[in-house]
Amino acid sequence: MANYRNKGGVAVIELNNPPVNALSFEVRSGLMNALKRAHDDKDVKCIVIHGKGKNFSAGADIKEFGGTKQQKPWITDACRLADESSKPVVAAIAGTALGGGLEVALFCHYRIGTPSCRVGFPEVQIGVLPGAGGTQRLPRLIGVKHSIDMITSGRHVMAEEALKLGILDKIVTDDIIEEGIQFAKSVVGIDVGGRILRNRKVEDAGSKVFDDEISRVKKKYKGYIAPLFCLKAIQASMQLPYDAGMEQELKLFQQLVSSGQAKAQQYTFFAERISARWQLPSGANSQTASPLPVKTAGVIGAGTMGAGIALCLITSGIPTVLVEQDQKFLEKGVKTVEGDLRGSVALKKMTAEQANKAISVLKTSVNLEDLHDVDLVIEAVYENLALKKEIFAKLDKICKSKTILCTNTSSLDIDTIAEATKRRDKVVGTHFFAPAYIMKLQENVYGKDTSAETVATVMALGKRIRKVPVLVGTCDSFVANRMLHPYATEALFLVEEGASPYEVDQALEDFGMPMGMFRVSDLSGLDIGYKVRKEAAKRRGIELTSDTRFVNGERVCLLANVLVEKGRLGIKSGKGWYNYGSPGKREATPDPEVLDTIEEYCRKYDIKKRKISSQEILERMQLAMINEGFKILEEGIVSKPEDIDIIWIYGFGWPKYMGGPMFYANEMKLKNVYRKIRDFHQNYPFSIHWTPSKLLARLSETDLPISKWTSLINSNSKL
Ligand code: CAA
Repeated sequence: MANYRNKGGVAVIELNNPPVNALSFEVRSGLMNALKRAHDDKDVKCIVIHGKGKNFSAGADIKEFGGTKQQKPWITDACRLADESSKPVVAAIAGTALGGGLEVALFCHYRIGTPSCRVGFPEVQIGVLPGAGGTQRLPRLIGVKHSIDMITSGRHVMAEEALKLGILDKIVTDDIIEEGIQFAKSVVGIDVGGRILRNRKVEDAGSKVFDDEISRVKKKYKGYIAPLFCLKAIQASMQLPYDAGMEQELKLFQQLVSSGQAKAQQYTFFAERISARWQLPSGANSQTASPLPVKTAGVIGAGTMGAGIALCLITSGIPTVLVEQDQKFLEKGVKTVEGDLRGSVALKKMTAEQANKAISVLKTSVNLEDLHDVDLVIEAVYENLALKKEIFAKLDKICKSKTILCTNTSSLDIDTIAEATKRRDKVVGTHFFAPAYIMKLQENVYGKDTSAETVATVMALGKRIRKVPVLVGTCDSFVANRMLHPYATEALFLVEEGASPYEVDQALEDFGMPMGMFRVSDLSGLDIGYKVRKEAAKRRGIELTSDTRFVNGERVCLLANVLVEKGRLGIKSGKGWYNYGSPGKREATPDPEVLDTIEEYCRKYDIKKRKISSQEILERMQLAMINEGFKILEEGIVSKPEDIDIIWIYGFGWPKYMGGPMFYANEMKLKNVYRKIRDFHQNYPFSIHWTPSKLLARLSETDLPISKWTSLINSNSKL
């Protein structure tokens, strides 16, 4: 709703829908009525609109999209009287004015804001466009070029920049409502005609600007349709009179709202927030547990991962000690950190001053003892259980009793590592994804004794270092890599059966993955997987050679080992599944030598090859991984499907416009997913990953939407 009061001739209208004053039906109706009242009241000389609490408004209520709630009055109907009023209307902005919130402000004649306020049109990130005049009014205020930048990126613009652009008329430092009232009084009597945006003309930027922008947007936001629709709407502001432009904007908005991409992107928006609300089997959760303060941190291991993690910490202002056993490795790690900081400055992601500040809080050491005083340590050494246990035993003796000990292991058992210490409650997994400074996922893994306080601390740390933290339980390879395993295994089987690695990658990239499976393997280094496979086999008492095709009755494909043994380690050696010309180069070219190797391998084992469609490639890789996702849910390793989707979006770049693998399964209808998985199970009996998940079988009978799966899982703990 919207509150109304008359303060000495100033109508003060408060948008009231905490916490972010989303413009629900009630708020829009309330705003419309309040503006009418102010308009009709002869005592009122001017009008101020502000938001209740910390924010002006975060825009339309996303939950209403696609729902049954009444659409009218829309934001434009609610604000019509602000536009037409001869009494000056002032938007007084604190916190955020986003999307429809900024559109309300653009209907006002003046806008003032606090120094920390932010404005923007983030609609593109939820698959729509500013559909209440934003694409028509912003170009009339700040021109086409800046409007394209703001609307297609969805970025938040801080107060200072908003003032420079002309979105804000003034930045004020006292109480925003009082300032709004004073400002409104000061402009009474000044003709508002020149301030009404609908009356202004949009400068003609020419059609070439849009041609160039279409190419840029297609490349930068590959696969996303909303940015292209935004461009069309902005172009309409230049080509059409105001009213016709508004009609065009609404038409494009409605097309997007009903698109699958918008549905998926809005699901992702809420999934991220649902996933942040964690719960332990004990019942302790994000509402009940408080994090410990992390004022200083330590990182052990200055390799690619360790250096990347240290970079995340220092760029977030956390003084960090980077420890390596060997001075030469340590120096190499520091060089990596410095190089990445220089790169960020060159790309204008940070200023030279920020980079210097970050490096000034990095200390280095070759002595574990130097971690005696830190609040949290992240171990990021080679994936070897004995080594990790040794380090944790030492840390337990060296560190303060309150220090939290984290391991960046991607597969090893947290409980076994914790057993090396006398503080099992303070041991936790913090699994980062390569490159650690870039990838947003932080997969936090709790063990059976990890305390809620420890979990709260690493979840809060993740947010602080600008990651998306997700909590998972411990099991072999946790969630991300456990699901990756059947996905990657199927990729290799498909290659054995007749698809080339390049066809597999093409199918995945056409689907929207940033990189195909084989390109990712080359980037990570084929030798890493080689060593992990050897270690895992050793632990299980199995001997693996490139001739191994079955292990305990289970089909395996060790083609990647054949490549490693030929010296093809991926990008680092200039050759892997692709040819890169020379070591370290990134441009991947299909390599006939690899195709010959595959031919030879298949001949050797008498494997019949056939033509494989891209649909089969996608179905086999994705459904194998989705089936594993249901098993993970079934075992309670994660508490909700949204956790899995967020892991795939931020850990492996699953496209947000496809909403994550569990959402994708939901869209395919679970009975179809289950039927296909059962068929694959019949056709490929030697792959355990095709054994259908019991939870999937059960859910497929119910036709419940993804938002209801968690309640079914909780009500049927024994499935
Ligand atoms: N609609 C409905 N609910 C919203 C919302 C919106 N526009 N924006 C935020 N919320 C909800 C969140 O889901 C969350 O709910 P829970 O507490 O139940 O999880 C709550 O408000 C608080 O949000 P955050 O946890 O995200 O709080 P924050 O302080 O971290 O961030 C924010 C605040 C920057 C405003 C962020 O919420 C945000 O980016 N919101 C979305 C903004 C947006 O996309 N606006 C465009 C809407 S579409 C539109 O306006 C179309 C148009 O042209 C008319």
